[in-house]
Amino acid sequence: MSVTVDPGTDSTGAIVPSVDVAPESQPVGWHHRHLLDVDGLSGSDLDLVMRTADAMHEVLGRPIAKVPALRGRQVTILFYEASTRTRVSFEVAAKNLSADVVNIAAASSSVAKGESLVDTVKTVEALGAHMLVMRHSVSGAPYLAAEVFGGSVLNGGDGWHAHPTQALLDLYTMREGLGGSVAGRKVVILGDLLHSRVVRSNIWTLTAAGADLWLCGPATLVRGFEAWAGRGAAAGRRFHVTTNVDEALRDADVVMALRIQRERMASGLLPSMREYAARYGLTRDRLALARPTALVMHPGPMNEGVEIAPDVAAGVQSVITAQVTNGVAVRMALLYLLAGTHGTHGASGTHASVGS
Ligand code: CP
Repeated sequence: MSVTVDPGTDSTGAIVPSVDVAPESQPVGWHHRHLLDVDGLSGSDLDLVMRTADAMHEVLGRPIAKVPALRGRQVTILFYEASTRTRVSFEVAAKNLSADVVNIAAASSSVAKGESLVDTVKTVEALGAHMLVMRHSVSGAPYLAAEVFGGSVLNGGDGWHAHPTQALLDLYTMREGLGGSVAGRKVVILGDLLHSRVVRSNIWTLTAAGADLWLCGPATLVRGFEAWAGRGAAAGRRFHVTTNVDEALRDADVVMALRIQRERMASGLLPSMREYAARYGLTRDRLALARPTALVMHPGPMNEGVEIAPDVAAGVQSVITAQVTNGVAVRMALLYLLAGTHGTHGASGTHASVGS
């Protein structure tokens, strides 16, 4: 027999899920079965993720940081690309929610023998997966997986396209460091925009949350973003693109450096790493242009001495470690919310299909 419970509310009357109980037992207003990108999330969806992450943060502060919410569900983590933060924090998050966790490294699976993505996804579903967390080097791969998987797909990063959980943990960390809101605050994302799925997802969340967003990098690495900014302004999602690092950093509230993605970098985009570090690296002198309280962020992994100086990465303004820690609470929140859109029979495909 299923029992429905009322979720709690905060001081403003907004819903806060009671994360100690199973997610499908309380109506919290979340309707997305998959998390493929953040472009389909409304402002109220973002607020619900943030409030649920706050509730998970409270769980993480308990002597035993575990709730039974996902007991009986299997979360399969299928990564076709290297990862430390995303893969491990999804595993920790799922275990904290009492899910059964299966890890598949593509290099040591039948993918190495030529098995297709679709066959692999059908196989993990036949082996009992209810939720599938995947990373792939090809943009759009998680969308294909979502077409054939009966449960929920969570995108852990696809090609240059999207990294939705990174953008959500970045938003959570900014809100935490800025007193609860990014609205009207100057947020600068500096570096290799061209190859970055992180910036592409952050554009959606930060413009939805009302930040004054600035993107900065050398001309070869900001290509295409001016056109996006024009389309964004027309749709009420305004952001700035500049190659002038001083203009970008002046009076910033948040500075996020992005990794120079050497593995995706075609020759001719940068004269040299040394030249990049000299002209665009986030050094102490450059950071002095921002507000004295500005948060320093980096999604990792870092090339210290290239896009960010070691003393800035480890300095008092750095919240880079907090980003990693917050990733667990935010991923717990997302697993919890998505699990609420279907029961433990999601893997058989017999659940109701809810949302996008
Ligand atoms: N930020 C990020 O995606 O890091 P990993 O590649 O280590 O998961």
